[in-house]
Order: sequence, then C-alpha cells, then structure tokens
Amino acid sequence: MRVVSKIGVIGAGQMGRGIAQVASQSGFETHLFDSSSESLERGAAFIKKQLARGVSKGKWTEEASQKAQESLQLETSLEGLSDCDLVIEAATERKDVKFKIFQECDRIIKEGALLASNTSSISITEIASQTKRPSKVAGMHFMNPVPVMKLVEGIKGLETSNETFDSVASVAKAMGKIFVKANDVPGFAVNRILMPMINEAVYALYEGVASVEDIDSAMKLGTNQPMGPLELADFIGLDTCLAIMGVLHEGLGDTKYRPCPLLKKYVLAGRFGKKSGRGFYEY
Ligand code: CAA
Repeated sequence: MRVVSKIGVIGAGQMGRGIAQVASQSGFETHLFDSSSESLERGAAFIKKQLARGVSKGKWTEEASQKAQESLQLETSLEGLSDCDLVIEAATERKDVKFKIFQECDRIIKEGALLASNTSSISITEIASQTKRPSKVAGMHFMNPVPVMKLVEGIKGLETSNETFDSVASVAKAMGKIFVKANDVPGFAVNRILMPMINEAVYALYEGVASVEDIDSAMKLGTNQPMGPLELADFIGLDTCLAIMGVLHEGLGDTKYRPCPLLKKYVLAGRFGKKSGRGFYEY
C-alpha cells in the first residue's frame, strides 16, 4: 500500500473545504487549492469557524484545533500540490472541468502519487483515462457535511489497481470514515438511489401532490429522514442534483431518470438552493 502523509484538495467549496478540514484534523499535511482566491479565503474562513465551534462545543481541544490549522496550507496554484501523495479533486460536478483538472494533475503532481475524485456521478474510468496513470486513480465520494457524515463511497475504475484502492480506503479510515465499495456505474450506489427519490419529490411538487413543506414533513416524520427531500436538494445544490440526474438519464438510458422540468426551471432561474439563497426554500 502507498503511504499517504500529504494530501492535496482541489476546490474550496462546500465539499472541498469539508474534506480539507477532516484531512487536517486527521493528522495529514493538507494543501487546499482553489483557482479563485476568493473561494479559497471563504473556504479557509469556514474551516476556521468550524474548528472554533468544535472547541466551544467540547468536541476537540484548542490545541487540536491549532494543530489542524497549522497542518492546513492554502495554495493559489496547482503547483503547490505537486509533492502530495494523494490529491482529492472536489471541483464543480462538470465533466469538462474535472477532465481538465485531471490532465493538469497528471502533468504537475509527482509521479506515483494517487489521484482521487469526489465526483458524485461521473465515471471514474473516464476521469482516469484523462491521465497516463489510470491505475492510480480512484473515486472517493464524501457526503455533505463532510465532518459529520460517516460514509466515503469508494469507486474502483476499470484500471484502478488494488493497491490504489486499498490506499484510498485506508486514508478514508484514517479520517474516521467508513469506506463502502461501489461499482463504477452512473450514480454509483448513493446517488443511484438518492437522486431519483429527490427527483420524484420535485415531480410530486410539480404535479401538485403536496406543498414543499408537506412533502418534506411527510418524508421526515413518515420515514425518519433527518431532512425532507426538497430541503436536502437545497442543501446539496439544485444544480448538482440536476447534473447527477442528467448523468443517470444519459448513462442508464431509462426514462424513469428524466429530470423533472421544475428542477430544470429552478436551475435556469439561478435558484441553486442554500448556496444561492433560494431554492425550494428561501435562506
Ligand atoms: N459542517 C460541519 N458540521 C456541521 C455542519 C456543517 N456544514 N452542519 C451541521 N453540522 C454538525 C453540527 O455542528 C452538529 O454537531 P454536534 O451534534 O456535535 O453539535 C451536528 O452536525 C448536527 O447539526 P445541527 O444540530 O445543527 O442540525 P441537525 O441535527 O439538523 O443536523 C445535518 C444537520 C447533520 C446536516 C442533518 O440534517 C442531516 O444528516 N441531514 C442529511 C444530510 C445528508 O443526507 N447528506 C448527504 C447528502 S448527499 C451527498 O452529500 C452526496 C452527493 O453526491 C449529493
């Protein structure tokens, strides 16, 4: 197995900042990169706030928070990640964006290092084929909020070696996560099941089955989910939900995965959910 002590994280958004926080708290030297310095600063400020909150709630000590902050370095260029043993990409859920990042990583990140994608639905086999090291590429799909959710869904692409897969599984474990293996098929396991449920909730709203609040209350109280499906969609991001439904629809070719027109309309209107201030709810 490859020994991983330095981790690079690409993207300081909702997922990337969570991964960087957990990596730095788990004793890894962590390098967080974002092509936008504004996003990088916002991500770093969020991590600092979360670490301080944890101290005030008695979840960890001030020393542990300090140590995590010292382990975290912000990078304004991808070159800053070149010496990392493992780079986890958590950029926008778009094929063109991810493909470009993996091509650049393959050129810049040291030979032999592992590359992982936090993609929620794009084929790991296809992402890996953008590089000359497909055996060293795997999927590490974290859940939001990363510091709270226990799961990392591990995805083995066609060329991913057992050594790479075991190494990323052991990193996930060192981060206190439970690693569950899923095959490289559209949506993997979580989103193959979660997204059609969310999409169906949007259809229910679209067809007037019940109001936003009632759909969420019914699912929360009737099926013991911590959030209703529409609130969860806002939390994940409606643009992300639509992108994942698009991958399921195209990749599996079944009309049951057709994205609801209302979901498309909200995204076209810029209602991306919590992150944009408005989705099914206002924030
Ligand atoms: N970052 C870090 N910690 C957070 C957080 C965040 N963004 N949001 C909440 N927390 C922590 C809180 O600090 C709190 O910790 P303590 O219990 O130790 O004090 C704990 O989570 C619970 O938070 P709250 O009491 O404020 O609120 P809650 O009880 O309503 O829980 C929740 C919030 C954990 C988000 C809960 O509603 C939940 O589990 N929701 C479902 C989340 C989910 O399904 N995520 C997966 C989405 S799918 C995905 O991510 C993958 C994909 O590809 C789309």
